[in-house]
Amino acid sequence: MTDFSTIYKLSLVAAFCFTQACSSSCPVLECWFVQEKAGRRGGLTTATSQEKSLLYIRADAHSHSGDSQQAPSDINPDRVYFVHDPAATLCHRSLNAPEGSIEKPHCEINPFFPHPSSLKWVAPLTDSALSPTYLQADWFSTAFQGLNGQLVLSSIMRAPTATKEHNVILSVTSKTVSVQSRLGEPVLLDCGFWADPSSPLSNSGFAVEWRYQFRGDGRLVLAYDGRTDRLADTQEEGATLDFEGLHKKGNASLILQEAKVRHTGMYICTVYLPYLVAQVAVELEIVEPPSLSIHPSPLPLVVPGQTLTVHCEASGFAPLSLDLSWEFKGADGKSRPLGTGSVTGHRQAWDGTYSQSTRLELDTTALDLGRGGEVTCVAVHLGGTRRASVTLNIIGFSTPSIEDSMAMVGVALVLYGLIKFISWTFIGSGSEEADKQDKKIN
Ligand SMILES: *[C@@H]1O[C@H](CO)[C@@H](O)[C@H](O)[C@H]1NC(C)=O
Repeated sequence: MTDFSTIYKLSLVAAFCFTQACSSSCPVLECWFVQEKAGRRGGLTTATSQEKSLLYIRADAHSHSGDSQQAPSDINPDRVYFVHDPAATLCHRSLNAPEGSIEKPHCEINPFFPHPSSLKWVAPLTDSALSPTYLQADWFSTAFQGLNGQLVLSSIMRAPTATKEHNVILSVTSKTVSVQSRLGEPVLLDCGFWADPSSPLSNSGFAVEWRYQFRGDGRLVLAYDGRTDRLADTQEEGATLDFEGLHKKGNASLILQEAKVRHTGMYICTVYLPYLVAQVAVELEIVEPPSLSIHPSPLPLVVPGQTLTVHCEASGFAPLSLDLSWEFKGADGKSRPLGTGSVTGHRQAWDGTYSQSTRLELDTTALDLGRGGEVTCVAVHLGGTRRASVTLNIIGFSTPSIEDSMAMVGVALVLYGLIKFISWTFIGSGSEEADKQDKKIN
């Protein structure tokens, strides 16, 4: 049993190595090194400086891929760093732009100052005074955005003072950078972290926090104290974590059991180690297309010249933006637009979804609707286009159509032909019969 699980683990490691580190080469990343300008602190706005920098990433402790390469001339040699990332998180393919591509992954580095946190669920991590000498080093915080919105990543790196050999100590990633969900469905917002097991900081526990932000409004979703394995705070019903996956694999994904309109917004996943913190932000949008209803339905019969009012109500949709219009399909099978009608303002329901309606005045003579056809209400929404139709019947024409005239001529011809045929048959057959009788006699 143990043998089997060891083999299993080894093969997993090999597979991981094959897919993550060995086959995909680790990138050389161009980053903006951003820091506050010295001597300008205390002002209302903090001035920052930006410098181009270069990060040579490697997953393997021994290889030094960057040594042989020449850094571009527009980069200050002091801003060239060698980053060792044992988990190979920074070797994700979305950070490796194809040769000559215009789109590049985004990357920013800032100096980082380790500090204890006073948050209730983080403070216990620094209760016992930890190796402060370990903290005396050059620390950086980095933020990456992969190509095509595949990944957001934030890492804390440490280099012994005055060296440029950094080690990744903590990484937080998300692969669901932008999530869309229908109403009422379960939602998973991905967040995972890795902490260097050889760091003295990774043995005294961690904390995870999810925050929500929308248009300047922010609140805590949940906070988890990994040291005591306890949810320190939850402010969102139905929000939870996979606690087993969290401890075993660093899976800090947020699970929302049932998507609601008010869940639309930005979610920030923050992971704390003692003195360290890293976070990534993901976006959630709840998108629900409208349900349409037309009334009156069915439509009453109309006579030419009559004006009919038709309403179409779109309800239960989110977000707000919606385009309502009308179409008509006549006997010829061709659709043509009838415009938007009079669109009302929107209303918001208790569940946050919206409704809006439009009223169409169907003037049967002005619009040239013939004998009628299909009247359709069309709603174009981010969640999809929805249609609802009713049948329009116009009775009692004032003038017959060409088809009607043709039909009348046709009927007249047939009748004429029939009379002709009958009279000919009777008269003709009478004489034939007479002929036969004549023959018998002979
Ligand atoms: C993290 O946990 C969630 C919920 O159990 C699961 O659906 C998801 O696949 C996990 N992610 C990873 C990367 O294992």
